[in-house]
Amino acid sequence: MSSENRTSVPNSLNEHWMPFTSNKDFKENPRLITEAKGVYLTNHQGKKQIDASSGLFCNPLGHGREEIINAITNQLKKLDYAQPFQQGFGGSFELATKIAKHTPGNLNRIFYTMCGSSAVETAIKISIAYHRANGQGERFRIVGRERGYHGMHIGGTSVGGMINNVKTFANILMPGVVHMRHTHLPEHKFVSGQPETGAELANDLERICSNFGAENISACIVEPIAGSTGTLVPPKGYLQRLREICDKHGILLIFDEVITGWGRTGSPFASQEFGVTPDIITMAKATTNGIVPMGAVACKEEIYNTVMDASPKGSVELFHGYTYSGIPVAVAAALAVQDIFEKEDLFNRAKNLAPYFQKGLFSLQDLESVDNIRGYGMMGGIDMKLNTKPGKAGFECFKACYEAGINFKATGDCLIIAPQFICEEKHIDEIIDKLRTGITNYQKNQKN
Ligand SMILES: Cc1ncc(COP(=O)(O)O)c(C=O)c1O
Repeated sequence: MSSENRTSVPNSLNEHWMPFTSNKDFKENPRLITEAKGVYLTNHQGKKQIDASSGLFCNPLGHGREEIINAITNQLKKLDYAQPFQQGFGGSFELATKIAKHTPGNLNRIFYTMCGSSAVETAIKISIAYHRANGQGERFRIVGRERGYHGMHIGGTSVGGMINNVKTFANILMPGVVHMRHTHLPEHKFVSGQPETGAELANDLERICSNFGAENISACIVEPIAGSTGTLVPPKGYLQRLREICDKHGILLIFDEVITGWGRTGSPFASQEFGVTPDIITMAKATTNGIVPMGAVACKEEIYNTVMDASPKGSVELFHGYTYSGIPVAVAAALAVQDIFEKEDLFNRAKNLAPYFQKGLFSLQDLESVDNIRGYGMMGGIDMKLNTKPGKAGFECFKACYEAGINFKATGDCLIIAPQFICEEKHIDEIIDKLRTGITNYQKNQKN
């Protein structure tokens, strides 16, 4: 196949080992996306689909944005790459200043990574480096939470809490990790927004401090809203309680905002939405509208200062970084995204559209195969009832919806819905209508 013709069905599907995919199933019946514009995708059969999950939560600004394409093109013509160690280029500093304007409190020091996974590894390592610089090198434990997703590197896999991601790799996971229980309680069924009950689950952290010794815990990492396991919204008061316990014991609180960052909840970060300021925030995905891989870690100034002060001038303060940390093409995309956020007031747009989306989402609860629905802001999760074995309902339903002209991601038996912020109400209507059609068709297929 020639390089100009990359969008047709390739002659061989054998060589590409696809990520998080049932490769055997896909290769028998491929689903290839050939074009994307605005809120729509086109597949290789020429069928138009509405993008109901902003890709993987990463394209809230819509597809094919000329401003970003032009920014990337111009950057590549001028400076395509500059290695980022012991030198820099202006754009990455400009971007850090812009990111710091949106991060809460004084989380003003920005470290660039390549993606969400590398942002999580970086955050964990920074927590360790900070305590060490502060004379507390014995703090090595990291507390995660069940049903958390923190990417696929070893640190993130270890602190994450999704069983299928962990079991194959159990013998190589990071030592010293302890998990809190997840916050999804049976009484939270069909609860929209923050549940009233469950804040006491944060006391798991206090219990872990008693059992393992708070003095050897470095950090506690949570997603403010667990995204990949289907929008698990924190109970009222839960995040506040985590903050109190971390403060009491000198533990750093890391919010993994790879999904919730950049407006998904209606505020720039979920931290502001829920009124809790962590010590470190990770972000990725929407940072570049998903177009160029990039992640970032925002740290409190005192973390940065402590690490800086512990090293003599002239030496490298943090032995960590990537070939692709803040490279020009990613920075150009991210700067263009920042301009669009501002010009189109997109966080407020997301906030204003959220009630309409949530109403539509919860209107699907009458469907007989729907077991539960959760939602917050422009995020939603639909749990399907179990169908013979875990994961089958989610996958079969995803395929029926794909045929019905709606594109999203299913994790296990949960359908992940996260519309783009540029959506109008008519697009939300289309998403909900097509979900209804797809889920109904799935139900019929099961009966035949
Ligand atoms: C909360 C969270 N952290 C980390 C990651 C990993 O990001 P990436 O896939 O860019 O490595 C994800 C990806 O979905 C995520 O949702």
